Amino acid sequence: MNPLTIRSRLGDYDVDFRDDADWALGLCELDNAFFVVDELVWRLHGEGCLAPLATRPLHLVPATEETKTLEGVGDLCAGMIAQAAKRNAVIVSVGGGVVQDATGFLASVIYRGVDWVYVPSTLLAQADSCIGAKTSLNFRHFKNLLGTMYPPKRVIIHPPLVATLNDDHFFSGLGEIVKMHIVAGPDATKRLEPRMAALCRREQASIGDAVRTSLLIKQQFIEEDEFDRGRRRLLNFGHCFGHAIESATDFAVPHGQAVVLGIVLAGLVSCARGRLTRARLDETTARLLLPTLTSAASIDDLARGAVVEAMHHDKKRSGTGLAVVVPDDDWGLVLVSDVTEAEASRALDELPGALESARSRTA
Ligand SMILES: NC(=O)c1ccc[n+]([C@@H]2O[C@H](COP(=O)([O-])OP(=O)(O)OC[C@H]3O[C@@H](n4cnc5c(N)ncnc54)[C@H](O)[C@@H]3O)[C@@H](O)[C@H]2O)c1
Ligand SMILES: [Zn+2]
Repeated sequence: MNPLTIRSRLGDYDVDFRDDADWALGLCELDNAFFVVDELVWRLHGEGCLAPLATRPLHLVPATEETKTLEGVGDLCAGMIAQAAKRNAVIVSVGGGVVQDATGFLASVIYRGVDWVYVPSTLLAQADSCIGAKTSLNFRHFKNLLGTMYPPKRVIIHPPLVATLNDDHFFSGLGEIVKMHIVAGPDATKRLEPRMAALCRREQASIGDAVRTSLLIKQQFIEEDEFDRGRRRLLNFGHCFGHAIESATDFAVPHGQAVVLGIVLAGLVSCARGRLTRARLDETTARLLLPTLTSAASIDDLARGAVVEAMHHDKKRSGTGLAVVVPDDDWGLVLVSDVTEAEASRALDELPGALESARSRTA
């Protein structure tokens, strides 16, 4: 597959799709590289496609939210200073969004910025987060509060890496893929629908195609609005509720699945406002959204209260109503900033019923 070149005001970069076994060899030949690898990915692939890296000193990190904090990045800084000379230092990282955020942040600040090569290992990182140049750290109890805009010099996508993901994280990535297609419009979702069964069976060829299509869609948004001032915000479809669900469940619901629940909730807000019919919402939920939800995507009554609480805190920070991307009857999206907590609360109450009626359509 041809590489994609992402145009960025911070420096263009290529996304290479590499099915072959040689891509890791090339990375080993880099002079003065500091390697950071998700420790689980190393355990699963250290004797497989990542074997060439065994010849280099590796910094292994757990993919926990603590890794992407100032303390976590401090440890990486210390490791890098001890290992790599300042001149022409390059960071090579392999992992999902956690490793991406920590190493992207590190690359952007150490020595006022060094080159960075990123190999995404989760479906979410391959299909979504690896482009767009955002790096984020958690600060105290605030998720993703600190951050920089800093693109890698190169992204290498090796599709077979995702074969070892557990279902919860695989379907989380699939959730973001579905979101990306909905954001792109009805033609994209029509093409996706017949492929959902193969994707859910985790067929490699379908996954590779869906990853590339998702990146092509995201590319259009970020190249037009790199700094999130307008159209790029539509990529946040499902994320207002999604982020609140993640924090209310202490991240038990993986990101992409929280986003999918967030899409259903934004749909329910639209239904209540008369912008979307329930039949249309149920149809899309049944065909595209429900298949991406595993048992990890459950929010009980207690957590539903905590979601409203989390949104309330968010609202206190912005000082206005809740900003939610909402769909209309053709799944056209618009960002509104006047959603009330009462509307959010009502949508949360209606969520179990909405999922149930979509489920009965597929039965
Ligand atoms: N910078 C951005 O643009 C951006 C966008 C979306 C999300 N994020 C951040 O990314 C994080 C979530 O990232 P994620 O969902 O990619 O996952 P992750 O990095 O949290 O990893 C999820 C789990 O999958 C494991 N894993 C990773 N690769 C694997 C593989 N190939 N096989 C088996 N297991 C593997 C990890 O060890 C971990 O247990 C969050 O912190 C979120 O805030 C950042
Ligand atoms: Zn997301």
